[in-house]
Amino acid sequence: MIDIDYEKLSKLAIEAKDMAYSPYSSFCVGAALLAKSGEIYTGCNIESASYTPTICAERVALCKAVSEGEREFVAIAVAGSLKNAEPNYCYPCGVCRQSLREFAIDNLIVIISKTATDYRIHSLGELFPHSFGPDDLQAT
Ligand code: THU
Repeated sequence: MIDIDYEKLSKLAIEAKDMAYSPYSSFCVGAALLAKSGEIYTGCNIESASYTPTICAERVALCKAVSEGEREFVAIAVAGSLKNAEPNYCYPCGVCRQSLREFAIDNLIVIISKTATDYRIHSLGELFPHSFGPDDLQAT
């Protein structure tokens, strides 16, 4: 099993947050997703004037990774706060939890990074229990 550097992932998520395009909400989010290959994919939220196409930082990171051929993941760090506000713990929205669930088993580590050294560690199973996933579409 690959080692998880919590501080490094938190730092990358916080750096990715600086790239957020969020002129409508002013809420900036960054994510850093560690694949089983050892590669790290970052993402930021990208909003739209028509609102609905807005995509969260976690799903940007996931789309970047999956489009590069990654299918298995170890951990994701998430950092989010209002622009120019003190950082706080920011948890992934329901849509992002479902999207991560597609490729990750319950033991995906979810790091909620307030700063590079102040973070909470959860598992996806803990944040998104009793989920619907690919197995549910298999005939038994
Ligand atoms: N956002 C994320 O990027 N990730 C989340 O898990 C929660 C929300 C973004 C979407 C939108 O651009 C802004 O935060 C406010 O909802």
